[in-house]
Amino acid sequence: MAPAMAIQSIVDEQETEYQKGVKQLYEKGIKKLPRKYILPSHERPNITSNNGHQHQYQAPKDFATKNGGIKQNIQLPVIDFAELQGPNRAQVLKSLANACENYGFFQVVNHNIGDGVISDMIDVGTRFFGLPFEERSKYMSANMKAPVRYGTSFNQNKDNVFCWRDFLKLMCQPLPDVLPHWPSSPQDFRHLFVMLMEAILESLSPAPETAAFPTADGEVVDEMEKELMEGGSQLMVVNCYPPCPEPDLTLGMPPHSDYGFLTLLLQDDVAGLQIQHNDKWVTVDPIPNAFVVNVGDHLEIFSNGRYKSVLHRVLTNQSRNRISVASLHSLPFEYTVRPWPKLISEQNPQRYRDTDFATFLQYISSCEPKRKNFLESRKIC
Ligand code: OGA
Ligand code: NI
Repeated sequence: MAPAMAIQSIVDEQETEYQKGVKQLYEKGIKKLPRKYILPSHERPNITSNNGHQHQYQAPKDFATKNGGIKQNIQLPVIDFAELQGPNRAQVLKSLANACENYGFFQVVNHNIGDGVISDMIDVGTRFFGLPFEERSKYMSANMKAPVRYGTSFNQNKDNVFCWRDFLKLMCQPLPDVLPHWPSSPQDFRHLFVMLMEAILESLSPAPETAAFPTADGEVVDEMEKELMEGGSQLMVVNCYPPCPEPDLTLGMPPHSDYGFLTLLLQDDVAGLQIQHNDKWVTVDPIPNAFVVNVGDHLEIFSNGRYKSVLHRVLTNQSRNRISVASLHSLPFEYTVRPWPKLISEQNPQRYRDTDFATFLQYISSCEPKRKNFLESRKIC
């Protein structure tokens, strides 16, 4: 074989290897991070200041120290779900609104989902990723619409640099079809989502006397609310972040926002999730058995910009495997995402264009996620 061809075939072989996922690489005992996973220096976790804008700057060398680096942690607002159902609801709704406006994130405790269900959930993920590769690989598919899909990185067909994550995705429509694949959880997640969404709609709702939109569009809105509660789309993702030999050079997930209304995330006790807050990356401290909940792009649009879909990313570490389970909830796929008509008035004009769900999904599968570009492009200036 000519040298050039030989090199090409080695490269191809490596590419195929990378498509199999990072658990594989970890199990091989690699000591150095392959080039495929090395981010350009300004995107690396400990020296970067991503302020959410398009242009990034190269942070000074001592930035990480000044910034508190990756050691900077954040106490997210905590929503007590039991209290939300009690006499203090109004107060909790205020905290909820504050969390959605100023953090885009909160943690939910006392949510009634048993510790057993939660540990089963993490357990089932751990066991799946503990299976021999041959077993896991049966679920590998290039088809983004496959109901069950095992894969790696963020968008492995498009990413230039891979991130240090493997995942298992399950579409949860129709729900009865997917139930055999899970411990009882999609319904538990769904129920919690519905209850939180009700609270969020209430927190967004203008007081009745100031309601801008009593009749004209009323029926459509009611129908949409109903759909959100009863139908809706749900995607569950189990994320696996194996120990990484050089965590400073890569990320478990690149900065992104989630597309739906709300994402409910369970994480094990290994920290890794970071959110952007006041132009800094801050680490979310895991609270045992709590859900981390975040506002997605659809809810930002629905709230006409009042609630924020915030960039987040995942750090890797050298010593411990990390598992998280995310449940992404939104409208039924055939719906159009638009600001809630109730909120629109002369004083508060519509700030985002109507967008069909399909366009969102198309965008997500068609390009490297460049931060919030798509959401930005929906804004009406
Ligand atoms: C996601 C996500 C964070 C995590 O799945 O969209 O942001 O901690 N996950 O795994
Ligand atoms: Ni996310």
